[in-house]
Amino acid sequence: MLKVGFIGWRGMVGSVLMQRMLSENDFAKINPIFFSTSDMGGDAPKISSNAKLLDAYDLNKLCDLDCILTASGSEYTNNVLPKLRDKGFSGYWLDASSALRMNNDSVIILDPVNRQLIDKALSNGIKNYIDGNCTVSLMIMAIAGLLKQEVVQWVSTMTYQAASGGGANTMLELLNQTKILSDGISDYLVEPQANILDVDKEVSRILNSNVLPMKHFDAPLVGNVIPWIDCQVADGQTREEWKAGAEGNKILGLSGSKIIPIDGLCVRIGSLRCHSQALTIKLTDKNLSLEHIVDLIKSGHQWIKYVENNKEDTLKYLTPASISGTLDIAVGRLRKLKIGPEYLTLFTVGDQLLWGAAEPIRRMLNIIIDYHK
Ligand code: HSE
Repeated sequence: MLKVGFIGWRGMVGSVLMQRMLSENDFAKINPIFFSTSDMGGDAPKISSNAKLLDAYDLNKLCDLDCILTASGSEYTNNVLPKLRDKGFSGYWLDASSALRMNNDSVIILDPVNRQLIDKALSNGIKNYIDGNCTVSLMIMAIAGLLKQEVVQWVSTMTYQAASGGGANTMLELLNQTKILSDGISDYLVEPQANILDVDKEVSRILNSNVLPMKHFDAPLVGNVIPWIDCQVADGQTREEWKAGAEGNKILGLSGSKIIPIDGLCVRIGSLRCHSQALTIKLTDKNLSLEHIVDLIKSGHQWIKYVENNKEDTLKYLTPASISGTLDIAVGRLRKLKIGPEYLTLFTVGDQLLWGAAEPIRRMLNIIIDYHK
């Protein structure tokens, strides 16, 4: 059995990964060895082959592994992997962080879409398999059926990204902001005839004062939206927006004249762990019927949950509240735009911690296990 080392397994993505691996019985297929960056010598989880946690910076111990799976962040990867490779580590590196994503010797993993690319990389001896940015992976998953049929000329995506994309602390910050805001107006809410303009004035006062915790978002997220995620890059784009085109095309294995332009605006909103996106797609063929497009979307993979374009189904099935904690990739509000018959719009929702983070890594581990059978 492959010796697989786990690093960063107690963080948010790591914990979701552990849950998924336990529920799919993945640990029975490997020899799991648990490491820690801060608690070496502490008790390892019961599923571990080692009773005590090993030091995640111990290169000798790491070198002994067939595969390392890290959800510990870019800093850890940048610190450890170069030294480990220098020391002769030739095992697989599965990484939830963005550190190596765009490197030539890395594959961005999203196997329902790019399994062929992964298989080719395995047979070419590529050892670094990296999670995509959650928003990008969820967008590609949503339109996989259209992309596979090569009917997409370009995509513009307007995102509604959950707090979880910024990490566990940002989720807590949102919930704390919500509580403080709600406590601040509670006197108004007990009055049956509260004057809404008075309540609104108090809400605005609280949002624009410094009483809300804003360490992670730098702005209130409760009662607000933040149309900026990550740092600025060139041409007015944020890095999150840049990733859509750069990573999206890398996932699809497209380069040169085959590149599909993908761009849009990334916005943080107050949902907890589901990213939503409104896409505008220019099709290569204006004569594609809506019925055929629906069939193509559904044919993308088994996790597509197609939602009929009506109010009842949309409210029930096409929301973060309904998708959270599931592997479903909901796609709905599908229609041709009045701009022209080649312009399609749709709305999609996916769990940022599952298909956006833990699931591609879990599945990649299984692909590696099968490859070495
Ligand atoms: N960058 C994403 C976000 C996180 O901020 O929502 C997932 O890659």
